[in-house]
Amino acid sequence: MADNYHVPVLGHEVCAHLLLNREGVYYDGTLGGGGHAELFLKKLSDKAVYIGIDRDHEAIDYAQKRLAAYRGVIYYNGCFNEFDQALQLAGVDKLDSIFLDLGVSSHQIDDDARGFAFRQRVSLDMRMDLKSPFTAADILASYNEEELIRIFSNYGEERYSRKIAWQIVKSRQHKAITTSDALVEIINRCVAGRFAVKSCARIFQALRIEVNDELKILEDTLRQSLQRLKKGGRIGVISYHSLEDRIVKKFLREQENPCTCPKEIPYCVCGREPQMKRIKPYIIVPGFSEIKKNSRARSAKFRVGEKL
Ligand SMILES: C[S@@+](CC[C@H](N)C(=O)[O-])C[C@H]1O[C@@H](n2cnc3c(N)ncnc32)[C@H](O)[C@@H]1O
Repeated sequence: MADNYHVPVLGHEVCAHLLLNREGVYYDGTLGGGGHAELFLKKLSDKAVYIGIDRDHEAIDYAQKRLAAYRGVIYYNGCFNEFDQALQLAGVDKLDSIFLDLGVSSHQIDDDARGFAFRQRVSLDMRMDLKSPFTAADILASYNEEELIRIFSNYGEERYSRKIAWQIVKSRQHKAITTSDALVEIINRCVAGRFAVKSCARIFQALRIEVNDELKILEDTLRQSLQRLKKGGRIGVISYHSLEDRIVKKFLREQENPCTCPKEIPYCVCGREPQMKRIKPYIIVPGFSEIKKNSRARSAKFRVGEKL
């Protein structure tokens, strides 16, 4: 099957760090087009269990066809923090590894109807799960100015959040903001010249994070992974922007060194024990040749932790 749906990023590195047992139980929280899944499945034995999860049922349908030749794949159309449901469906209890390749696939970005890109005149949807009721256009129509400032600042780290939020509230009194070009036009009114493109990227990122509740779900999933992994099991996360990467980095650091005792106390009294160790190198990024072949890999950062 042609794999122009999405080119898997850091495929070799992901398998090298997460595939530890050919007969193990694997949890792929972001199945997408099944690109990473196929790399794993080629190396796994028929006895392995591979749980492939995606919020987007179109991704599940695509991956199911692509991976039809492989045994032991369980598909779950839902969110990757829904461990209870997915593990119950697969009839397993503990995992050898958890893999998250965050964000959206190339296919989702390229599909105008999904509204993830800001280049064309597309409707502002941005839902990963098309069954969820809340789109980016709904946010622009219903959030008050303060709420818009909060998401643009927190999820987009946008300098001109106040100005853009004010313009949105003003503009929507005349006409609902439902398409990418209408939003881009508003941002262009607030941000001068060449800086506007970066502001557009940040505002679109903020809306996408809010629509899909991406950061809270990531934090919840990392927390739950501690109970779900076997001893010696691993979690690996590829992130594509600093907000996601910060969450993963902080989580792995805290699990490796959870002691909260003040530095002045010479020994630990809080009793918190390390739950994970970070795998070196602490951060893995694609090389020049991968970025040359696949420009969407350029911002990827891969971090791995092992359950103690
Ligand atoms: C970068 S793509 C994964 C590509 C995949 N690794 C491959 O090689 O084809 C991310 C996928 O994760 C899905 N996704 C993002 N957040 C999710 C979540 N919280 N729960 C389940 N799926 C999610 C998206 O719908 C998208 O299909």
